[in-house]
Amino acid sequence: MSAFDLQAKIPNNVNLGDDRRLQRALEQWQPRYLDWWQEMGPEGYQTKDVYLRTAIGVSGDDWAHYDYVKMPDYRWGIFLADQVPDRKVPFGDHMGEPAWQEVPGEYRNVLRRIIVTQGDTEPASVEQQRLLGQTAPSLYDLRNLFQVNVEEGRHLWAMVYLLHNHFGAEGRDEAEELLARRAGDQDKPRILDAFNQPCNDWLSFFCFTMFADRDGKFQLASLAQSGFDPLARTCRFMLTEEAHHMFVGDTGIERILRRSAQLTKLDPSGDARVQGGIDLNTVQKFINFWFSYCLDLFGSEVSSNAADFFGAGLKGRFDEEKRFSEHLALDQKLTLAMPKNGKLVNEDIELRNAMNEVLRQDYIDDCKSAVRRWSKVVQAEGVDFEVTLPSGRFHRHQGIYGGLHFDRDGEPISAEQFEAMRAEWLPTDADRAYLRSIMQPVMAPGQIANWIAPPKKGINGQDFAFEYVRF
Ligand SMILES: [Fe+2]
Ligand SMILES: [Fe+2]
Repeated sequence: MSAFDLQAKIPNNVNLGDDRRLQRALEQWQPRYLDWWQEMGPEGYQTKDVYLRTAIGVSGDDWAHYDYVKMPDYRWGIFLADQVPDRKVPFGDHMGEPAWQEVPGEYRNVLRRIIVTQGDTEPASVEQQRLLGQTAPSLYDLRNLFQVNVEEGRHLWAMVYLLHNHFGAEGRDEAEELLARRAGDQDKPRILDAFNQPCNDWLSFFCFTMFADRDGKFQLASLAQSGFDPLARTCRFMLTEEAHHMFVGDTGIERILRRSAQLTKLDPSGDARVQGGIDLNTVQKFINFWFSYCLDLFGSEVSSNAADFFGAGLKGRFDEEKRFSEHLALDQKLTLAMPKNGKLVNEDIELRNAMNEVLRQDYIDDCKSAVRRWSKVVQAEGVDFEVTLPSGRFHRHQGIYGGLHFDRDGEPISAEQFEAMRAEWLPTDADRAYLRSIMQPVMAPGQIANWIAPPKKGINGQDFAFEYVRF
């Protein structure tokens, strides 16, 4: 097991103290990271004590140590999951060769691109969420927001460590750029579109952590299979933190739906908005919006890049080693509905070229099980409403369906037909304004906003009424 140095300026389990050059480079990056955190991290609350989880180890209970921390004092560190002895490249053309501890020269550029693209999402989400503290529905939710934020900051550290340690001067430049781009900025936007979308209300936040962080789970899980061992170990540990982010999103949407159903029942005309809540249709529209944007994150359905990543052993399928018995993915096809002259025509695609779609389908299956659960929650409150996911072709901006128009069931329609339905399928400015109007901060322990139900239990065995943030 790797030794933990928690007293170091940068807590780590990678023997940073033995590599003075690397240590110095990262210690020079650290104050710039903290400047970024002050400028682009959560607005307000930086001097408040927040009940946060900090990793002080990677196994057992150590990775989840709870205490009051001021966010700028959070111990952002570099933690890799323990090395698997004699690990081999588990798939692709190099299958069975020893996993690489150094970057193979021929894959240097692609690997850097993969790491930068993953790394860019981490600070982006912090930037997108930076104003949400001002409208939190409870201290419990405020604390969860900050937990997600500090851990996304740690994920940035994880990627910057790989860039500094394995990619020389280019890697150091990329690490600077990761602090220079800004979510939603016209001139220097973040790399992926979903990470430039505004996330200024809590329904969006919960949809984001449900759908975008879940994309993160699938990306990290496929990179955790990588033949480049430091990347695999980094991603394996990030996945343990990611689980809480998805929990926040999944249960957040569930709590809104429960409350929405209750308020729908309560209102004589069945209108949750009259009761100051969020109507179920609006929740569905936000699900449509974020789900479709997050599907874009998987890349094009047909992609030679995806084939190259797989063939090279850099990025596997979801749980490649556990779920598949065959790891070459040669001489196999995936049938895809390809748009041709306004119609959909089935075409068989070489499996390696369809690897983005394979991962996206696993993601969609994962989302479906949550949606089924949510519908049961609504129906248990006595309201006849089914939450659904739109077709994977609906409202896409990237890939073979990007820029084309499909209805919620995935049937091709004209641009005019789509525009005529837009306000029914996707959040309108009025919807967003309404959400902002009802989202007033609730900052007393045990209190909660009217538009959301309280959680079933608190964090780390504490009550919901626990003082998660101290004023
Ligand atoms: Fe992350
Ligand atoms: Fe996350």
